[in-house]
Parts: sequence; C-alpha cells; structure tokens
Amino acid sequence: MFRNFFATVVGLGLVPSAWAASLVVSHYTGRLYTLEFTQNGASGTLAITSNASGCGTLPAWLELYPEDRRLWCFDESWFGRGNIASFNVASNGQLSMAQQFSTTGNDVHGVLYGGSNGKSFIATAQYSPSTITTYRVPTSSSNAVLQQQRFTMSRPGPNPRQDVPHPHEVIVDPTGNFLLVPDLGADLIRIFSINHSTGQLTSCGSGQASPGDGPRHGKFWTPASSTNATDGLRLYTLNELGNSVSAWTVSYGSGCMSLSRTQTLSTYAAGVTPGSDTKAAELQLFGNFLYAANRADQTFGTDQDSIATYTINASTGALTWVEAANAHAYYPRTFQINRAGTLVAVGGQTSSNVAILSRDVSTGRIGGLIASIQVASRGRPGQEDGLSAVIWNE
Ligand SMILES: *[C@@H]1O[C@H](CO)[C@@H](O)[C@H](O)[C@H]1NC(C)=O
Ligand SMILES: *[C@@H]1O[C@H](CO)[C@@H](O)[C@H](O)[C@H]1NC(C)=O
Ligand SMILES: *[C@@H]1O[C@H](CO)[C@@H](O)[C@H](O)[C@H]1NC(C)=O
Ligand SMILES: *[C@@H]1O[C@H](CO)[C@@H](O)[C@H](O)[C@H]1NC(C)=O
Repeated sequence: MFRNFFATVVGLGLVPSAWAASLVVSHYTGRLYTLEFTQNGASGTLAITSNASGCGTLPAWLELYPEDRRLWCFDESWFGRGNIASFNVASNGQLSMAQQFSTTGNDVHGVLYGGSNGKSFIATAQYSPSTITTYRVPTSSSNAVLQQQRFTMSRPGPNPRQDVPHPHEVIVDPTGNFLLVPDLGADLIRIFSINHSTGQLTSCGSGQASPGDGPRHGKFWTPASSTNATDGLRLYTLNELGNSVSAWTVSYGSGCMSLSRTQTLSTYAAGVTPGSDTKAAELQLFGNFLYAANRADQTFGTDQDSIATYTINASTGALTWVEAANAHAYYPRTFQINRAGTLVAVGGQTSSNVAILSRDVSTGRIGGLIASIQVASRGRPGQEDGLSAVIWNE
C-alpha cells in the first residue's frame, strides 16, 4: 500500500513530502517487532508499532515472500529443539502467526525451495551440529524431518573457530535446481541438486574457499545484458573469518553446477588491517554494486561499524573497492536495501538498533543517517544477543 503510493507520486514526477514504510525486526530476546519508518525530505523517524512471538527463544533469521505476504522465521535455539514459524504480514507490517512447528534446533538460516512453485520444502542450516535439515512445508503443526545431512572434515581449519564444519546459510540458485551451503568451518561452498518431487538434496561437490576464509553468506548476480538466468551468472560470497568477499563463476552441466573462484577482496580499504574481534557478517547486491557489513570494526567511532562498497564490472562481474560507509550501528548482523534502492536498513546486533541510511541510486554510495531507533535491549559485545535481523516489508 505504502509502496504503491510512493510509485504513484514518483510516476507523476512529484517529490513526495512525507512517505512511510514498514520493517520487521527479530530480536534474540524472542520477539519480532514491526517498525514504521516515516520520511520527510532528508530526515525521518522510526517507531515500534507492534510485536509478535512464536519463533522460539532465539529468532535468528527472517525470510519474507512478498508475493504471498508471508514471513518465515528460524530459531537459533541451542537447546536441542527450536521453532520455525510463518506469519501473515499485513500491509502495515503487523504479524499474525500462520504456522509453527518444532525443529532439531540451532537454525542460523532457512529458505524455501523446490517443487512446482519453488516453495514446497524448507532447508535450514545448523551451525554447531554441522548439519543441514529439510522439511516439507507444513500442512499441520507437526512436521517431521525430511532429510538431515551431517558434515565432517578430516582435520581442523587454520582458524580456531574451524574445529568442525559450520554450515551458515542455505541459498537457492537462480535456476531453482540447486542449493548452496557456505560452510564457515570447512572453507567450502557446498553444492546440492534438488529433486523437485521429493525435496531430496544430493551432493554435487563444492567450491573451495581459501584456508581460513570462513564463508558465511552468498548472493547471485547476473549482468543486465543477460538473456536468461545463467548467462554471465556470478556468485559473491562473504568470508566472516577472512574479512573478505570472493567472486565465483558458475557453470552447469551433467546434472550439477560448479563454482570457480576468480577474486577475493578485503572488506577494508587497502592498507587497513582489521582488529582481531572483527567479523564480516552480511552482503547485499543492488544493480552493479555489492555491499558487505563489518562487525566490531568501529571504523567511524563508538558503535559505528562500516559497510564496504564495491562496484561490479557490468561485463566481467569483477569487483572493485569503492569505499567504507558508516553503518551507524555496532555489530551490523544484517542489512537490506529497499526495492527502490534509495534506502538501506541496517540491523545493529549489539547496539540493537535499526538505522535507516540514504543511498544514491546512480553512484551506489551509502549516505547519511536518516533515522535510528533502539529495539528492545542492547546486546553484549561478542555474545549471541541483541537484534538479529531486519527486513523491509515491501
Ligand atoms: C508487545 O505488544 C503488546 C501489545 O501492544 C504490548 O502490550 C507489549 O508491551 C509489547 N511488548 C514488548 C516487549 O514490546
Ligand atoms: C526424484 O526422486 C524420485 C523418487 O526417488 C525418483 O523417481 C526421480 O527419478 C528423482 N528425480 C530426479 C530428477 O532425480
Ligand atoms: C543462456 O544464454 C547463453 C548465452 O546466450 C546461452 O549460451 C545458454 O545456452 C543459455 N542457457 C539457457 C539455459 O537457456
Ligand atoms: C570492465 O572490464 C572490461 C574487461 O576487463 C574492461 O575493458 C572495462 O574497462 C571494465 N569496465 C569498467 C567500468 O571498469
């Protein structure tokens, strides 16, 4: 509703004087919060308008499917059991629970995949047990595990956190036929083919990161000139332990996909060595720009970590460093760019704030702070508390 209003006003060539949008936030104290953002020229305000529970004790990740007005939430519970919950999302962002079922616990990420609609099954990644687990999209409140795969490695990696495999995300490729799993412990991007009728995942090998990279998240990109989902396709990954991003070419053949790494660039400017507590967290794409959030670098002062900006070469997919921008948040675990590309919502985990930053659509540069609000209680540095995720409801 809000977005249509905006589109209409922009379509008429008018500058909107006041404009509103809603966001949804998850917090490690167990609640989800809806925020309303109102922009008035260069300034704006944020207010908490409602809250919901149902995603267990440690809601860690939010996936919104706007076409269904459906939000999925995954619980990081370390206590052997957790929840997956889905919510219907009203246009003002108010959440009403649709479905909830219990899991094997410790989900750090989840996504829908497979079947005729690409949303018939749920894949989840469990950090500590070194597993990925799948479910059928539930039709009732009881839901059995469809498949669980446990990963092993023959020896620890170079970083002390690489004791065992640590799957951190589940990503569906643009064809919908493959699932990727960045594994922070094993320095791998694991690849699985999807059986659309059964939801079964079958290993297709992996892409090899550098020792100690600790890949956490990934995003696919296709050039604007691409005529189909795979022409010129690139994968970019964020390395939490190496504080870097990598670029990969992608190829398909004989029922599998494969990855070949072409580039790795720091999430800091040339000559800057990150401190030992820093951990890169999240990456986002918009057009030919890539962004990576750094946690605990405080490049811009107390509680002010940085977001790295890169350009993507439109024909080769190669990355070039642009600059570090102020995240106006401490420990930005997630951030998201709005659909128009004009605003960035940053979720500071330890500062437990949402910061709305401006973004220049043509240069890709992240600009100043428009609004910020603290949501629930602050976290403690380096701990699994505070604000876990923020998304635009649009
Ligand atoms: C959640 O919303 C209810 C109803 O508006 C309110 O009474 C309660 O204080 C809120 N809880 C939190 C933790 O914000
Ligand atoms: C999917 O699984 C079914 C049941 O095991 C099997 O009959 C079918 O051949 C599989 N499809 C593919 C594409 O492997
Ligand atoms: C995608 O486009 C490229 C380049 O035109 C072509 O080589 C490739 O076969 C196409 N792939 C599919 C799946 O259509
Ligand atoms: C993109 O890469 C091509 C091939 O290396 C190069 O010729 C071109 O100048 C690059 N474009 C930009 C904008 O850097």
